Amino acid sequence: MLTKLVTDLMGWVDKRLPVTEAWNKHVGQYPAPKNFNFWYFFGSLAMLVLVNQILTGVWLTMNYEPSGEGAFASIEYIMRDVDYGWLLRYMHSTGASAFFVVVYLHMMRGLMYGSYQKPRELLWIFGMLIYLVLMAEAFMGYLLPWGNMSFWGAQVIISLFGAIPIVGEDLATWIKGDYVISGATLNRFFALHVIALPLVLVILVFLHILALHEVGSNNPEGVETKKPKGSVKPEELSKFKFHESYTKKYDIVDSIPFHPYYSVKDIMGVAGFLILFCWVMFFFPEGGGYFIEAPNFTPANGLKTPEHIAPVWYFGPFYTILRVVPDKLGGMLLMFAAIGMLFALPWFDRGTVKSVRFRSKWHLANLIQFAICFIILGILGTMPATPIANLIGVITTCGYFGFFIALWFYSKNENTKPVPERVSH
Ligand code: HEM
Repeated sequence: MLTKLVTDLMGWVDKRLPVTEAWNKHVGQYPAPKNFNFWYFFGSLAMLVLVNQILTGVWLTMNYEPSGEGAFASIEYIMRDVDYGWLLRYMHSTGASAFFVVVYLHMMRGLMYGSYQKPRELLWIFGMLIYLVLMAEAFMGYLLPWGNMSFWGAQVIISLFGAIPIVGEDLATWIKGDYVISGATLNRFFALHVIALPLVLVILVFLHILALHEVGSNNPEGVETKKPKGSVKPEELSKFKFHESYTKKYDIVDSIPFHPYYSVKDIMGVAGFLILFCWVMFFFPEGGGYFIEAPNFTPANGLKTPEHIAPVWYFGPFYTILRVVPDKLGGMLLMFAAIGMLFALPWFDRGTVKSVRFRSKWHLANLIQFAICFIILGILGTMPATPIANLIGVITTCGYFGFFIALWFYSKNENTKPVPERVSH
C-alpha cells in the first residue's frame, strides 16, 4: 500500500520533473572506476563540509548582529546565552579550517593522478574557481566577529589594493565603503559572506559535478575507463547497468555504479572525518590559536595594532609569497600569479601520462618538492617575517613556481613507464 503510494507519487513527479532520471544518471547508474582509493573521499567530504557551513551559518545568522557596535557582543551572546550557540559557532569555525584541509587534499589528489589533464581541464577550472571563491568567503567571514585580528587582517589585505597604480586608493575606499574599515565594511562583508558567495559556491559545485560526469572520473592509475564505442569485446565490458547516456557514447570497463558501492564506501570516509572533526571541535576549537587567533578575543580597535598580524593558516602560503617581495604591488602581482599558475596547470603539463605511478622519477620528485614548499610557505605565513624566515620564503617561493616551469619543460618528452590498457588493481 505504502510502496504503491510512493511509486505513484514518484511517477507523478517524474512526468513533471525527471528526478528518477537525474538520480540514475548521476548516482545510481553513474559508472565510477572500481579502483578509487582513500584520496577519493575528499570530494564527498568537501560537499559535507559545505553543507555544514551553510546550515550552521544560517543558525548563527539568527543571533548575529552585523554592526560595528553589536557584532563582537553578539558573538559573545551566541557563545554564552544561545542554546547550543557555542556548538554552532565551533562547528562553523572549525568547519572553515576543515574545508581547507579537505580541499587541499582533494587538489593534491588531482595533482598526483593528473586529474586536471585533458579531457578534465574545465572540471579543474571550476575547481579553481571554487577555491578562489572559498578564499574570498573565508576572508569575509573572518571580519564578522569584529575581533582585533579580524579588523587588522582585513586592514592589511584591503590596503594592498591601494598599491594598484592610479585607481588603487579609490578601489580600496570602494571596497571598504568608507575611508576606514567600519561598520559599513562589516555590513557589506556580511551580505557577501551570507548570501552572495555561498550562492556562487553552490552553483560552481553543481557545475563542477556536471563537468565531472560529462568526461567521467579519473582514477589512481590515470587509465581511462570510458573507451571509444565498439573498441572493447562484449565480454570485457563492465557487467553492471549504467545509464544509457554513458553506454551510448562509450564502452565502459573496470567500473561500478556509484550507488551503492561508493555511496557506502564514502560513509567510511565520513565516519573517519567526523571522528577527527569532533575531536578537534570539542577539545581544541581554537586550534592552538591557528583556527581562532588570540587577538580575536578582544574587540576590533583601530588604535591598537596586534603585535604580529597573521592570516589564518590556510592563507599562509599566499601570504608568504606576497611578503617575500619588498614592494607591495610586486608582492600582490606575485601572489595572484601563484594562483594563476594553478589555473593554468593543465597547460603547463604537456604530458599524456596522467598518474604519478607511471610518470618519471623527475615528476615524482617535482611533486614532492612542490608539496613540501607549499607546506613550508604555509607555516611561514603564520610566523613573523624575520630575515631567516624571509630567506626560506624566497627559496620555497622559487620551489612553488619552479614546479610549474620544470613541468612545462620535462613533460613534453618525459621518460614515462608503460601505462596499462586497463585498470590493473
Ligand atoms: C567545495 C569544494 C569542492 C567540492 C564540494 C568538490 C566536489 C567534488 C566531488 C564530489 C568530486 C567527485 C569525487 C572525487 O573525485 O573526490 C570531485 C572531483 C574532482 N574535483 Fe572537486 N570539489 C571541490 C573543490 C575542488 C577544487 C578546489 C579542485 C581543484 C582546483 C577540484 C578538482 C577536482 C578534480 C580534478 C576532480 C576529478 C578527480 C578525478 O576524477 O580523479 N575540486 N570534486
